[in-house]
Amino acid sequence: MNATEKSGSPRTCLAIVLAAGEGTRMRSALPKVLHQVGGRTLLGSVLGTVKAAGSTATAVVVGPDHEAVAAEAKRLISDATIAVQMERRGTAHAVLAAREALAKGADDILVIFGDTPLVTADNLSRLREPIARGAALAVTGFRPADPTGYGRLLVKDGKLIAIREHNDASDDERKIELCNGGLMALSGKHAMALLEGIKDDNRKKEFYLTDAVALANATGLTAAVVEVEEDDVRGINTKAQLAEAEAILQQRLRKAALDAGVTMVAPETVFLSADTKFGRDVTVEPYVVFGAGVTIDDNAVIHAFSHLAGAHVGEGASIGPYARLRPGTKIGKGARVGNFVELKEAVMEDGAKANHLSYIGDGRVGENANIGAGTIFCNYDGAQKHRTDIGKGAFVGSNSALVAPVSVGEGAYIGSGSVITDNVPANALALGRVRQTIKEGWADRLRKLKAAGKKKAPSEQP
Ligand code: UD1
Ligand code: MG
Repeated sequence: MNATEKSGSPRTCLAIVLAAGEGTRMRSALPKVLHQVGGRTLLGSVLGTVKAAGSTATAVVVGPDHEAVAAEAKRLISDATIAVQMERRGTAHAVLAAREALAKGADDILVIFGDTPLVTADNLSRLREPIARGAALAVTGFRPADPTGYGRLLVKDGKLIAIREHNDASDDERKIELCNGGLMALSGKHAMALLEGIKDDNRKKEFYLTDAVALANATGLTAAVVEVEEDDVRGINTKAQLAEAEAILQQRLRKAALDAGVTMVAPETVFLSADTKFGRDVTVEPYVVFGAGVTIDDNAVIHAFSHLAGAHVGEGASIGPYARLRPGTKIGKGARVGNFVELKEAVMEDGAKANHLSYIGDGRVGENANIGAGTIFCNYDGAQKHRTDIGKGAFVGSNSALVAPVSVGEGAYIGSGSVITDNVPANALALGRVRQTIKEGWADRLRKLKAAGKKKAPSEQP
């Protein structure tokens, strides 16, 4: 039996995410937890982890006027409870803001900080294990290079007896290297009594969640420590820390991609998102950026310097070098998107090609159709976006402008340099350009006039 299960049925778990902080040190108009790492907001990262760790209910504690934070929480977990902490009076006070969610009861209560995005699902599962075995609460312990500012874990005879916040610690206590990572798991049975017993009798006059440890000990309950890596519990307060967290996350994501079989000759130059998905035998060349929402199917190759976001690349397709796939792009099996080609809200069906210098926005390129170099889908008329539809096997000559809404039928040809404003029937040839004219001997006449010292060019007329 898994430690998070009781008599066969999984234990219920309420996750309370504290996100009421202002984040003034970020020097930003955006609330702290809405900044991003790995293509997700800090809050989104934490909520994703909470879900992966099997939480059955979620409450997010936000500050007053943080509608945007509440909206992000709801977008990600539609049945999340939003609790507003009107005044910042400490971490225990923040947890109690979610009193309604707590009152519904759960086997395990997890408390996680919204600004700690590198916490793993494994950290959370491990934290729940002692609760399943009967502990009243469990905290994460870690050994930072510099413990200044962290709460210290006071362990006596192998038992966690209290957490002392840095400000309140004695000189001796400050020498303790084992610090509080901030995460906590509480037994649903004891959580309310412990939280309500916490007082603000400390230097900062705050209600410290960490005081739950001493309270538990005072009533004969046990508190456990689960050791984690410093990186896992790294909190973010500044833009520099945000960049550090991004670097750690990128290392994790690159390793996971390599472990899953993706070929990358220079993984340190590739940027991934937490939700990037790869099939088998995918190759990613150097300097590729994957924004959020990208899926790459088996055997596809993403060539150097490409930028992808919100895109699906089909089996065996070839993208780039220097391609840009924007949200809503779907690339079919074996299709080819070459250098300096941009796609947005567009489908390239199986075997379609756009090898050079094109913009394909709001449209469809049918199976095996060929888009010549320099083709532009003119999708915007200054007010609205319109669609372009290219039929199966059609051939669009180089440097054509397709003025949407417009469609090109199956197997049709578009002459190079055309401006296409009317629909083209299947298998037709469409030309939309000025006809070429020839002036025999014109260049010779020009040279003679110049030699005779005449400034004027020969007339256009014969
Ligand atoms: C906390 C721990 C400390 C631990 C450290 C790890 C307490 C009392 N201390 O200290 O032992 O070593 O984290 O990083 O828990 N928050 C609210 N409302 C509040 C107060 C805080 O939502 O009234 C949120 C903050 O936005 C933040 C989190 O709770 O996300 C932690 O608060 P913070 O002030 O950073 O606690 P620390 O002093 O770092
Ligand atoms: Mg902190």
